[in-house]
Amino acid sequence: MSAFEPLTIAITGANSGIGLRAAQRLAAQGHRILALCRHPHRGRVALETINAGAAHPATLVTADLSAPESVAAAADHISRRTGHLDVLINNAAVFDQAMRRPAFTASGHELFWATNHLGPFQLTARLSPLLAAAPRPRVINVASKGLITMPRIAIRFDQLDDPGWYSPTRAYYHAKLAQIMTAYSLALRARGTLDVACVRVPAVRLDADRVAALPWALRALYAPKNRLAIPAERLGETYAALATRTTTWQEHSETAAQGRSALRGVYLDEKLRPVDAPAFAYDATARERLWVMSQNAVGGPSWAW
Ligand SMILES: NC(=O)c1ccc[n+]([C@@H]2O[C@H](COP(=O)([O-])OP(=O)(O)OC[C@H]3O[C@@H](n4cnc5c(N)ncnc54)[C@H](OP(=O)(O)O)[C@@H]3O)[C@@H](O)[C@H]2O)c1
Repeated sequence: MSAFEPLTIAITGANSGIGLRAAQRLAAQGHRILALCRHPHRGRVALETINAGAAHPATLVTADLSAPESVAAAADHISRRTGHLDVLINNAAVFDQAMRRPAFTASGHELFWATNHLGPFQLTARLSPLLAAAPRPRVINVASKGLITMPRIAIRFDQLDDPGWYSPTRAYYHAKLAQIMTAYSLALRARGTLDVACVRVPAVRLDADRVAALPWALRALYAPKNRLAIPAERLGETYAALATRTTTWQEHSETAAQGRSALRGVYLDEKLRPVDAPAFAYDATARERLWVMSQNAVGGPSWAW
């Protein structure tokens, strides 16, 4: 039997919900957790929870994914602490349905786009040399099952930060589509050297403090839905199984295949079964356009692949 090799795993949004449960589970299994959290205080509270059952104390890294300078500082901090990174889980996201009007970051990007797409894109690029230094590196993005209800969704390349089409739901799913497309692009760019997955998360029970923070009308709407939703622990298991698997997405794809079949195995449901993405995600020209545009928006970082 081979000796247990702890993995170094960075997970964003590790202070709450699924991210916290995944961090707890992976830490309890003996892996080294880099817990990326936006707020130092919430991060420290989460660290106590994670470390309660951990073999190695987790490390807190402060990172606001909507702020490019904060993402760059977090990546630098991680690079100073470790020579390699086995897994990056891009879990954090904003999905506050109470944000009826668009908010914009200091860089001028709409907040959902900045937090849920540009931040993870920049973080993945900045950490790619560390990932490339790991023996079997892996990147995990996170999307949403709700995209099933939007089969014709597309990236609005010419209206990205235009408030005209904004609603919190539209902005959220638009950024989640970009998460799937980035996973596909990365999987093809780094084929054979990086495992890439994107999890299609179904309705998951929100933590009590999240629900309590909602305006009363949304809370009333959310309460029955939240009771029926899957516990966050269940998705924490999914993330942990993906992070530590010995196989890669390519076992589901056919090397000679084109289009959808070539990408099968990247987008997975909560039971790690391959699922289809919205049609737009299979458009190679659109994926390349998204990549170039995202790369320019985050200052053209160097990628390892
Ligand atoms: N819950 C669901 O039903 C559901 C369904 C489909 C997909 N998902 C996806 O699953 C993932 C986890 O969601 P969850 O249910 O665990 O929700 P959650 O408990 O609200 O966790 C979201 C995490 O993202 C962090 N975050 C938000 N904005 C950030 C920023 N600017 N910088 C850094 N971190 C930020 C939050 O930090 P703070 O504590 O500082 O706010 C929190 O740690 C998300 O990608 C979400 O889109 C969830």
